[in-house]
Amino acid sequence: MGKDVIIACDFASAEETFKFLDKFTDKKPFVKIGMELFYAEGPQIVKDIKARGHKIFLDLKLHDIPNTVKKSMAVLSRLDVDMTNLHAAGTKRMMEGALEGLTRPDGTRPILIAVTQLTSTDQESMEEDLLIHEPIDKVVMHYAKNAADAGLDGVVCSPLEAEKVHNTCGKNFITVTPGVRFADGDIGDQKRVMTPAEAKKIGSDYIVVGRPITQAEDPVAAYERCINEFVD
Ligand code: C5P
Repeated sequence: MGKDVIIACDFASAEETFKFLDKFTDKKPFVKIGMELFYAEGPQIVKDIKARGHKIFLDLKLHDIPNTVKKSMAVLSRLDVDMTNLHAAGTKRMMEGALEGLTRPDGTRPILIAVTQLTSTDQESMEEDLLIHEPIDKVVMHYAKNAADAGLDGVVCSPLEAEKVHNTCGKNFITVTPGVRFADGDIGDQKRVMTPAEAKKIGSDYIVVGRPITQAEDPVAAYERCINEFVD
């Protein structure tokens, strides 16, 4: 499986998104479409970006009863996305249902990855709000293991967890890691960050990069810098 840089297209409209994507005339980057853009523009935005030749990670983080997730995943797989995700907290049964729904009649399917604990959840909120009293590291690895057992392809995790996930779930289990910043760049609201080169060294399979590319003076140059550090 190829390592790649995924650009988080965290824009509020199709217009802004296309203004950004128009800058990429040479190579068509792998892009992530999140809830904001999807809810603003609907499934058409996925079709339009796909028609321009981009691979798409549809980041909608499904979490519902197994039957609902299974049927929703069938709809997403017909949109021809390349990667999508769900919350591991929905249980192994929900993840198995999702895989079933996602598998197309010809046996192909998008890559399916799980969110373990969101990085916005810390030990304190996990204990107080969710009544989970195990150490958060252990919870993250347990959820990753559940995802692997259910047959999923990988997890979204912090670059700092990628190595441990590979040790727990095998080196072919995909790690998709946000929280990437250039050594000389702004950290913004991310807390625990890594450079693309460091993410490569610790074995991330895909890095998700938003503002360091979307807000750069020259987004194409920033993207190429990520590719050079992470892939080449
Ligand atoms: O702009 P930035 O590079 O921080 O964007 C990172 C992207 O990855 C955003 O779309 C953010 O929602 C997503 N993400 C994250 N941390 C997670 C899961 C997803 O930053 N744990």
